[in-house]
Amino acid sequence: MSANHDVLLEVEGLRKYFPIQKGFFKKTVAYIKAVDDVNLRVRRGEVLGVVGESGCGKTTLGRCLVRVYEPTGGNIVLNTGDQVLPVTELSGEQMRTFRRSVQMIFQDPYASLNPRMNVLETVGEPLRVNHIASGRELEERVAKVIQQVGLRVEHLRRYPHSFSGGQRQRIGIARALVVEPKLIVADEPVSALDVSIQAQILNLLKDLQAQQELTYIFVSHNMSVIRYISDRIAVMYAGKLVELGPKEELLARPKHPYTELLLAAVPRAVDRRRGHRTVTAGEPPDLARLPSGCVFRTRCKYAHDRCAEEEPQLRELETGHFVSCHFAEELSLGGVVPRVKSLAA
Ligand SMILES: Nc1ncnc2c1ncn2[C@@H]1O[C@H](COP(=O)(O)OP(=O)(O)O)[C@@H](O)[C@H]1O
Ligand code: SF4
Ligand SMILES: [Mg+2]
Repeated sequence: MSANHDVLLEVEGLRKYFPIQKGFFKKTVAYIKAVDDVNLRVRRGEVLGVVGESGCGKTTLGRCLVRVYEPTGGNIVLNTGDQVLPVTELSGEQMRTFRRSVQMIFQDPYASLNPRMNVLETVGEPLRVNHIASGRELEERVAKVIQQVGLRVEHLRRYPHSFSGGQRQRIGIARALVVEPKLIVADEPVSALDVSIQAQILNLLKDLQAQQELTYIFVSHNMSVIRYISDRIAVMYAGKLVELGPKEELLARPKHPYTELLLAAVPRAVDRRRGHRTVTAGEPPDLARLPSGCVFRTRCKYAHDRCAEEEPQLRELETGHFVSCHFAEELSLGGVVPRVKSLAA
């Protein structure tokens, strides 16, 4: 862990491989490299957006960070301010501290709530199972947090089926907040919601983050959402981080051809100068059979021979702006105006 107190979470060489097994004896014939050698530092109080197409490993990364998944390799260290926790090898007491410090918000507010538990039970559960509060104190804490997320105390005895999608996601947020965590990993928290509700939930998350000095890792396939909420953006492709930088800088001056591709797909007002831009055809590679060299080369319009021969490493091109492309210095890529007032901008 760096001595830097500003770093809340440090991720080094993180890998998560899923075995592909075949035959009667379930022999492992290959691995899906869902997360492959990811290095990342999350700063205290920031919103780090993680963006990439479906299947690029975002959920797997998030689940490794909250220890839902056991990583295949690498290190994760959490500095809570009071304690430095080795997340990949937590002892019993440390695991309890970790569970209080890091929480997750899930994509699907329908599937992530137990239909047989009312709001008080659902939101109070992390307090109960982590022995943080019980009885009267638990009820008071749940009542407080439920109001912070825009619900009412009268809702405490109701069951999930009586709530709308947006309200259910508010319950999911309350459940994450109730233990007063340092870090929240939000995995596509608005993707299952109506567009009209998405902005409300994003604004709620933004307000809570500012009020409670929270740190978010915010995962989404939707670049518009990532633009709206993030301070820094990490771009994932085929299990790897291909670009990482401050939002304004990365949006205005992307350094990786894949980021340029993602930005070209963001809905925009008609751009007369360039005409209508389209996303380059092509699919992400099979994570069990990655191409040699650069994982993006099968879709990259700037690829040269070297791209098939040598794998680019993530390197710091400008202060705080990291990219893994052999030709990042030479390419002049198209970005977007970083300021967004609304999601549709
Ligand atoms: N539990 C699992 N077992 C096997 N393969 C998985 C599992 N979870 C995810 N994968 C595979 O890992 C890759 C990354 O998936 P995921 O992390 O869900 O991506 P994303 O969230 O970016 O859509 C996909 O190829 C997916 O099929
Ligand atoms: S290394 Fe080559 S293939 Fe990969 S992104 Fe850069 S130019 Fe494209
Ligand atoms: Mg996902």
